[in-house]
Parts: sequence; C-alpha cells; structure tokens
Amino acid sequence: MKKTELMYEGKAKRVYATDTDGICIVDYKDDATAFNGAKKGTIVGKGVVNNRMSNRIMRMLEKHDIPTHLIEELSERETAVVRVSIVPVEVIVRNIAAGSLSKRLGIEEGTKLPSVVLEYCYKNDALDDPMINDSHAIAMGLATKEDLDTISAYALKIDEILIDFFAKLGIELVDFKIEFGKKPDGTIILADEISPDTCRLWDSITHEKLDKDRFRRDMGGVEDAYQEVMRRLTGE
Ligand code: TMP
Repeated sequence: MKKTELMYEGKAKRVYATDTDGICIVDYKDDATAFNGAKKGTIVGKGVVNNRMSNRIMRMLEKHDIPTHLIEELSERETAVVRVSIVPVEVIVRNIAAGSLSKRLGIEEGTKLPSVVLEYCYKNDALDDPMINDSHAIAMGLATKEDLDTISAYALKIDEILIDFFAKLGIELVDFKIEFGKKPDGTIILADEISPDTCRLWDSITHEKLDKDRFRRDMGGVEDAYQEVMRRLTGE
C-alpha cells in the first residue's frame, strides 16, 4: 500500500489517501497546539507515543466489540486506517471534574463526578468547537438520532473499558475526547486517536498529570509524561 495525495492536515496528524480503495494512512506529528491553535509548540516524540498508544488501545477496544478504524500500524508514526467521513461531533466523557467543566460549572478540579458526564461539541475551529446537545446535532444535520444513540452507547462502554484498563497501569482516567467516523455503508466506527493529547490521565496515587495539560498549562515535564504513559502501557 502506498500513500498518494495528502487529503487533510490537522493540528496533530496528516491523513493521506492511498492506492488502496477505502484505506487511508495517518501520520502523527510532534506538533502540539492548545486553545484552538492559539498556543503552539512541539512535544518531542509525541507522534510516536500517540500512534503506538492509540493503536494498542483500539486493538484492545476491538476485543470488547467496539469497532474502530484501525487496520495496521505501518511504522513508528504511521497507521493504515479505514477511510471514513468524520462525524463533526467531538464526544467528551468525564469521570472526574477538570478543565472546562470545572471552569464553567465551578466544580473543583479533581472532584469525582457521582455519575458519568457526556458532552458533545460541534467540531468547527472557526466557532471554537462550541458545546451542543443532541437536538442541535440533529437539527444541524451533523448526525441522526440513531447515530447519536450508537455514539453515546459506544462512548459510555469505551469509558468503562478504559477506566479499568488505565487503573491497571496506576492511572486515573479523568476525562477524554473521542471522534467517530461513518463508513460508506453508514456504519459508525471509532476513529481519530486516544492518547495523552485527548485524555486526562492522572497517576492514581500522586495525581500527577500525565497528559497534554502539562503543555496547556506550561507545567514542564511534557515529554517525560508522554513517555511515562507509554512505559506503563508497554511494560518496557
Ligand atoms: P476540556 O476540559 O478542555 O473540555 O477537555 C475535555 C477532554 O477533551 C480532555 O481530556 C482534553 C480533551 N480535548 C481534546 O482532545 N481536544 C480538544 O480540542 C479539547 C478542548 C479537549
């Protein structure tokens, strides 16, 4: 399989078409942005960690009957994935208050949420990814009611699986963002990535942040945090 043209370049990844129908190649970059691109930087080795970590997690999720876009890891930074059209709804799942939820609702960061919180945001950089609900998504034609039923059920199941998965690595899953894609036949599958860019991961004992918040908040030790998550994941 060979890359043909660059289809899309995002803030953290490039997506290429290939000479094989229905398959794309994703190339993970070390570029990091925050606050919708207002803050820019590089996290050395991030692309390698995110590629490998996302693939391991998606393989594991597949074993739990979550369909994903993953086909095959091709290299340190490149993965073959199923070509989908991304549903322009970012799905955020929260177990512990942090980030924008803490800010918006005045709940202290670190407070365990008595029940899981599911949020949707409209994936639109020009509008700063505003939060929406089901009726907005349906009225705007971003997804159908059936799509959202599937997406929310997958999101909550993924949360349960990931909480357990990370707990075994001594990591608390605070929250995460996922995206889904639609195959030409209309099937919804998990797409994009699951990595320290898209999850809040805290050490279970020290509550040390092991994710992109170290970059967003200028805390230092960003590369080390990504490598630490990878080390725990691979047991290396
Ligand atoms: P938030 O608290 O800033 O809304 O973030 C919630 C979760 O979503 C957190 O794990 C980080 C992740 N996230 C992304 O992956 N991409 C984004 O653009 C934003 C804003 C958050």
